[in-house]
Amino acid sequence: MFKEFLDLGRHPIANAFLREDGFDTEFFFDLKVCWDGESKLVSIKDFVEPERIFNEDYPYNTSNSFPMVEHFKRTAEMLKKDFNPKTVLEIGSNDGPFITNFDRETSVCVEPCGNFSLKTAHMGYQSYTSFWTTELSEKIKSHHGKMDLIYAANCICHIHDLDDTFNAVKNLLSDDGVFVFEDPSLLRILERGSYDQIYDEHPHIFSVTALNNLLKRNGLTLFRVDNLSVHGGSNRIYAAKGNVGVEQSVADNLTEESIFGINHFQTYEIFAKRVENSKEELLRCLKNLKHNGKKIISIGATAKSTTVFNYCKIDTELIDVITDTTAEKQGKFSPGMHIPILSREDVNILDYDYVYLGAWNFKDVIANKEREFVENGGKFITHVPQVMVFS
Ligand code: TYD
Repeated sequence: MFKEFLDLGRHPIANAFLREDGFDTEFFFDLKVCWDGESKLVSIKDFVEPERIFNEDYPYNTSNSFPMVEHFKRTAEMLKKDFNPKTVLEIGSNDGPFITNFDRETSVCVEPCGNFSLKTAHMGYQSYTSFWTTELSEKIKSHHGKMDLIYAANCICHIHDLDDTFNAVKNLLSDDGVFVFEDPSLLRILERGSYDQIYDEHPHIFSVTALNNLLKRNGLTLFRVDNLSVHGGSNRIYAAKGNVGVEQSVADNLTEESIFGINHFQTYEIFAKRVENSKEELLRCLKNLKHNGKKIISIGATAKSTTVFNYCKIDTELIDVITDTTAEKQGKFSPGMHIPILSREDVNILDYDYVYLGAWNFKDVIANKEREFVENGGKFITHVPQVMVFS
């Protein structure tokens, strides 16, 4: 019962920042989005093979994002206080900002990108360079025993086969253990029109409603939901085996989603119309500015901006350059539209009139850093929740 509601056109791999010699062989796929009327899950139609995305060249290094490092530190402290786990496993541990808050001896990392799993291994953590599967959960169980806490951030929504994913968790979780994972919230995306959360790495976009159905189908009980502000609005999901008390936050979220219309296809058709309008307005805004001789730069070479730039066909005609704090992205070009990426230090921002917020989710952090730009008359552009210019 999969019904397509959105066609974003041809897209490259959102995080595959590239050099000029890679332009001719760049990979593209059709980015279409559909809804499963049975489980209520929103997914992209044609999945990209994970090996193409998550490999040794994967550039998204979480420790580079200071607000996220703080976020994971606070999360780890809260989980220790609430659940006091003796053993911890992280799925998609990246370069370790969450797991490093736990003891090396009792923690296990699973990370398919070799560049990152090597980092946590060097820090003394048991690190498996692997995708998360039931087969791997068996292997880990035989080496390390069952886990009291299985955690994942911005990772479960990357995995195609959710039944196998949840089955693997159930297999490795101790009887009174807890599975905690956080991913962008479909409700917040629909509310804010932030269609740029849709890209190859997010084969699924989760509502609490869909997760409740899928976890139940795999013998896990969703018992708590935290609504978070990270990544433009995420949900932290808590699940356990067996009969656990389901907290009020679950019913609250299910009700909120139901009132919004998560269970009706028409909601997704309305969203698709809003996305088309957003594209038209953003192009109108940028083209007007260019027509009036203004110079535009983007801050944050994000996966999100890969979606926006490719869907709206925004290239160097409209945005001269992107700055990003990630060393691995600097000196490269944005996927598909090939806008050059420089470090913030290599650019005199006062040469520009407008900053497009590729990392709109860090709007306050960026605005705070760029006070001089604003004092000199510079303005910001965002498309979330609607296209607007502000200072
Ligand atoms: P994020 O919003 O997590 O991106 P994605 O859409 O790829 O998941 O990443 C933010 C990006 O923006 C990251 O590459 C670092 C960069 N960045 C800056 O360049 N300047 C800043 O001030 C901040 C906060 C982030």
